[in-house]
Amino acid sequence: MTMKEPLILGIESSCDETAAAVIRGRSLLSDEIISSAQLQAKFGGVVPELASRAHTDAVDEVTRRALENAGVTKEQLDAVAVTYGAGLLGALLVGLSFAKGLAYAQNIPLIGVNHIRGHLAAAYLEDGSLEPPFVTLLASGGHTAILYAASETKFEILGGTLDDAAGEAFDKIARVLGLPYPGGPHVEALAQEGKPCIPMPRMLKGTGGYNFSYSGLKTYIINYVHTAEQCGEVYSRADVACSFQHAALDILVQKTVEAAHEKGTDTVTAGGGVIANGYLRETLSEACRREGIRLVLPAKRRCTDNAAMIASEGLIQYRAGNFSPLSINAVPSIPLRGE
Ligand code: KG4
Ligand code: ZN
Repeated sequence: MTMKEPLILGIESSCDETAAAVIRGRSLLSDEIISSAQLQAKFGGVVPELASRAHTDAVDEVTRRALENAGVTKEQLDAVAVTYGAGLLGALLVGLSFAKGLAYAQNIPLIGVNHIRGHLAAAYLEDGSLEPPFVTLLASGGHTAILYAASETKFEILGGTLDDAAGEAFDKIARVLGLPYPGGPHVEALAQEGKPCIPMPRMLKGTGGYNFSYSGLKTYIINYVHTAEQCGEVYSRADVACSFQHAALDILVQKTVEAAHEKGTDTVTAGGGVIANGYLRETLSEACRREGIRLVLPAKRRCTDNAAMIASEGLIQYRAGNFSPLSINAVPSIPLRGE
């Protein structure tokens, strides 16, 4: 007889998305998000105090919706998984305190989840049969790295960015091009109207192992745009966006495929906000198809911040018996580690 799969509620509030989701084992039952991104866009970025207040307004409602859409009650839950870091301190505390109250009231385990581990765990919900080892491309607003997952809980960092994260580069280029926050989707939309015709710096193509560097590319584009504006030259913002997008993302695809070959694995997964980019999804899919690699790509909605991925990592910790005390605190910054 198989054991009943645990029913886990995930809660996420590290930045500007208040999210709650319910999973039964690796089956996703609901996935709710209330975002304050539009409010933050007025200020050109996330204002921490506004984010905390928005989470406080939304956390109860988003959780109620997640339970309702999953067709379960809080009494049926086996555990609550919640992001404890990294992120904005005040924002994290809202979700964490709410989850603590729920775990205490229901007398069920609380599982503090590292947000980045959540991004890595999103792929498990996409394909129930996914098992390590595999190579993962992680690309978010704070991290860009290629990892080798030896097991569900242990990974090796094969390489990472030496300066900006890929998402951060998108956000900075968006600002230079006068596009609103959050930059990534706006740069992608503008890039669709342009051509990759502007020669860009070579990044760390063919060198630097599995490391990346975005500062040279960023500086090059800032200079290109400013020089054109100062000289009154006509330039195409769409071509800049498109050329940047190709340069910033092609290198990720290339190095991920190389890493899979070197590690001798035929499976690649991906996670983080930048993986929602359509051009990256197409080129990575195409490269994996060509190389005979199985690609497990989370749905776009589960690449950017969401609670389903937190519940998914919660399931891994639940099975490992790693529970958190009710005294667990929020941690604004957590270095990427393999353990
Ligand atoms: O994973 P995420 O939602 O939050 C972090 O944990 O950082 O990633 C956010 C980052 C932002 O920098 C955003 O501009 C970028 O992901 N992003 C994108 C796209 N959607 C979000 N970058 C490129 N193309 C997109 N479609
Ligand atoms: Zn994230």
